[in-house]
Amino acid sequence: MEFVIRPTLAEVSSTVADIVEGYVRRGPTTLGLATGSSPLGSYQELARRHRESGLDFSQAQAFLLDEYVGLPRSHDQSYFSVIRSEFVDYVNLDTERVHSPDGESSDVAAEGERYDAAIAEAGGVDVQLLGIGTDGHIGFNEPGSSLTSRTRVKTLTEQTILDNARFFGSVDDVPHHVLTQGLGTIGEARHLVMIAFGEGKAEAIAAAAEGPLTAFCPASVIQLHRHVTVVIDEAAASKLQLLDYYRYALDHKPPWQAF
Ligand code: F6R
Repeated sequence: MEFVIRPTLAEVSSTVADIVEGYVRRGPTTLGLATGSSPLGSYQELARRHRESGLDFSQAQAFLLDEYVGLPRSHDQSYFSVIRSEFVDYVNLDTERVHSPDGESSDVAAEGERYDAAIAEAGGVDVQLLGIGTDGHIGFNEPGSSLTSRTRVKTLTEQTILDNARFFGSVDDVPHHVLTQGLGTIGEARHLVMIAFGEGKAEAIAAAAEGPLTAFCPASVIQLHRHVTVVIDEAAASKLQLLDYYRYALDHKPPWQAF
């Protein structure tokens, strides 16, 4: 696990954009996209690079982490719509190749299996962007999620519903169920990039990276992965016990070693 601690959100976003750009420039690639506020700056930076430096997404495809159950794709808060209005509409990523779980499926259990199969058929995800919830969720794997879970329906916690109410008119409008890639599914991506900023995420980041491996903090599953980059600001890093070491390791990163 590697930590990149940056002073500002703009620098966090720029580092994440550097990592994604590396994959996109190498040729056909499969991106794992998260929604929520954490990756927004990175998406804006990637869109700027597309506009100003011709960063070409034409050979990329993407899979989203999750989707609300029962919310029509046309709803402006469905993740199908959000990823388009926040990112895909600003780059030349073919919208037909941006996949997400179908929250309107009449058979949501089968939909989870179909989605996992689609990811596998695409050759798996090369780089997966992840935000983290204040309760340690990734995707919408709430505390108690099996560490080997597959894409399936989950019930949101009250805290997550409250956290997400800011995107909806009222807390009553937030769906209670979601389809989310499982922790096992997420762990199959070849590179995980966790993004967080702000003091509100400090405890979750410390628990994920330095706490015990436990379903109580689903994000702790990143400790089992062979290639994780945690890109965070000073505030989100503030509760890490080995902060000085992480800074030292980054400062002394050999020039030949990429993220
Ligand atoms: C969204 C997702 C969630 C968010 C998490 C943090 O696709 O998978 O796990 O990443 O809820 O949300 P923000 O970034 O809004 O703090």
